Amino acid sequence: MKRHSSSGQLSRRSFLTTVGLVSATAAAGVTTACASGEAGTDGSADQQGADRPDPVVPFDGPHQAGIATPVQAHNTTVAFTLRDGVGPKEVRRLLNIWTSDARRMCSGEPVLADLEPELSSDPGRLTVTCGFGRGLFTAAGVADRAPRWLGPLPAFSTDRLDPRWGERDLVIQVCGDDRTTVSHALRILVRGGADYARPSWTQTGFLDVPVGPDGEPGTPRNLFGFKDGTVNPRTETDFDEQVWIDEAEASHPAHVGGTCMVIRRVAFDMPLWESADRTTREVSMGRTITEGAPLTGRAEFDEPDLAAIGDDGLPVIDAHAHIALAGVHDGDTRQRMLRRAYNYDLPVTAARADGLQDADLVALADTGLIFTCFQTDPRTSFIPVQRRLADGDRLNEWISHVGSAVFFIPPGTAEGEYWGEKLLG
Ligand code: HEM
Repeated sequence: MKRHSSSGQLSRRSFLTTVGLVSATAAAGVTTACASGEAGTDGSADQQGADRPDPVVPFDGPHQAGIATPVQAHNTTVAFTLRDGVGPKEVRRLLNIWTSDARRMCSGEPVLADLEPELSSDPGRLTVTCGFGRGLFTAAGVADRAPRWLGPLPAFSTDRLDPRWGERDLVIQVCGDDRTTVSHALRILVRGGADYARPSWTQTGFLDVPVGPDGEPGTPRNLFGFKDGTVNPRTETDFDEQVWIDEAEASHPAHVGGTCMVIRRVAFDMPLWESADRTTREVSMGRTITEGAPLTGRAEFDEPDLAAIGDDGLPVIDAHAHIALAGVHDGDTRQRMLRRAYNYDLPVTAARADGLQDADLVALADTGLIFTCFQTDPRTSFIPVQRRLADGDRLNEWISHVGSAVFFIPPGTAEGEYWGEKLLG
């Protein structure tokens, strides 16, 4: 598979209209282009329009938004459990309500009877992405239409899973550049669906997307300090190969255009990480912290050379470095996926804080990564990659997987259609 040697090789328009990381810093007044509103009718960029990404991400289309959409600054993902007695009729009603409310809010229109319409008028690249767990298919009376891979992942040797972050019937991922809008949208959806589904877990994450000297968006960093998201699908062909389910991969025609979402909650042991020196950190990742370059290269998008041997006679990129094990260097591109991970950082709870010194409060903060990825089939991508990582990744010293859930993301909607209508209808 071809990779970009530099994001700067792409024109601003193609970068933002295919996929890449767009600046989430519009509010800070940093120059970024819009995906769709880049130029005026005569082709000249309207200054205000050019400075700010288009606040509307189209809702309808062949795929749901919030996947190929360049990452936004905020992500709140909520998993739901269907209420007792919810059957096929109620499932359809719920999806109908949610889809039409999400469609409105993402377009900058308030939902009917919204008493705070001001909170919907500027969507700030709001996207709402809905996914189904196996329980949804069963409740809808179409259990036989669930993708075969849908359900818990096999156990990995390093798992420390807490069922609190586990499989549920439904998921809603809400992303946007404006935290208030994201929060408002979620409240509307939770309230609108309250008769049919109750929120079961909520994961809230953030990212800061830097802007390079050329005005192009850069790769955001995770809380270990590394650029995270360098190796990802960028072009339509990459997405077709790695993310969107096609006819040959679908076990039901209405899966086509959908994808598989895996959400792993990964806790970081920050005090231990902070006791590791910079070289140890870089060797464990196989990349430099400053540039995000492979240890065998100089720039972020340089191809890693896993065969390179250093002056000391040892491989420059350790065989157990994260990228050596996570990367697909044997040519099996089916193992690729879209990673759309968000940082989380929660203060220590009052119960745990009682009687602790201030320094302990910082040390005990609950910090990590909401590792969300999208792929055509986890059996050929996430599972083999995570198996290699669980067995040998140097990062394992500092991380624990504490949550795991898998959802089928139905394809996008036509105007007026509800999520999964062709599958459930
Ligand atoms: C919390 C744990 C993790 C951290 C901190 C982390 C961080 C990173 C970083 C910094 C990179 C290099 C830059 C990039 O390409 O984005 C990377 C690459 C990658 N990671 Fe992770 N990652 C984690 C967990 C995982 C998991 C669970 C998987 C999948 C099972 C995974 C799959 C990958 C892949 C496929 C790459 C690209 C490798 C390549 O082709 O060079 N990562 N990760």
